Amino acid sequence: MSVITCRGVTRRYAQPGMPPVTAVAGVDLTVEAGTIVAIEGPSGSGKTTLLGLLAGLEVPDEGVIDVLGHDLARLSGAERARLRQARIGIVFQSFGLIASLRAGENVSLPLALARVAPRERDDRAKAALEEVGLESAFGTRIDELSGGERQRVGVARALVIDPIVILADEPTGSLDEANASGVLALLTDAVRRRGASLVLVTHDPASAARADRHYMMRDGRLSIGVPA
Ligand SMILES: Nc1ncnc2c1ncn2[C@@H]1O[C@H](COP(=O)(O)OP(=O)(O)OP(=O)(O)O)[C@@H](O)[C@H]1O
Ligand SMILES: [Mg+2]
Repeated sequence: MSVITCRGVTRRYAQPGMPPVTAVAGVDLTVEAGTIVAIEGPSGSGKTTLLGLLAGLEVPDEGVIDVLGHDLARLSGAERARLRQARIGIVFQSFGLIASLRAGENVSLPLALARVAPRERDDRAKAALEEVGLESAFGTRIDELSGGERQRVGVARALVIDPIVILADEPTGSLDEANASGVLALLTDAVRRRGASLVLVTHDPASAARADRHYMMRDGRLSIGVPA
């Protein structure tokens, strides 16, 4: 069973006074349930744009994207947001956390958006922080945590909704090697435990080595890659 299928997906960006940039060009991709897919490729090749399309944050100019049985083009922006909030965990290179809030508040934000009751939010945020080894950081402000700890909070926030799909955009790109491998192990182990799927954009061969399938992106085109 597949959780994501893309057929002929193209995304162009207009540029004033210049021809448009084709960030994603005719991409076909199938992500099977319970698998980890790694996407590598040089800077500017369209990796972040592709993840944005899969997340329903961007709309393709051509092609069809099906996520968990929903043709994204048939959903409104609000419906895509609800699908994302309920089923898709996202981890960013830059962590995407709110620095002035506490770790527990950051992790429970997706639950607040999904209108989960406050008491249950706290319980689930604590469990997610425990899963990444940071239960003691529940009440700690993000700006008091190290980079590796921040990204573990980022992973906990992606896990807290019990996602079916996680999209991770160079999640270890801002970390040193030791922290990067720790965060990567946490993320991939959590995905495997849940039988969830992970689309992992990475420059890091150690990250790619944990994947079931490997793709290369170049100039917006996706091709089957050589395992690292
Ligand atoms: N919002 C935007 N408006 C205009 N052009 C954009 C926009 N987002 C991306 N692009 C262009 O689309 C192309 C692909 O960008 P994208 O960010 O997807 O690449 P990437 O593979 O994620 O790169 P990196 O490894 O540096 O993160 C680039 O040429 C970029 O300049
Ligand atoms: Mg990028």
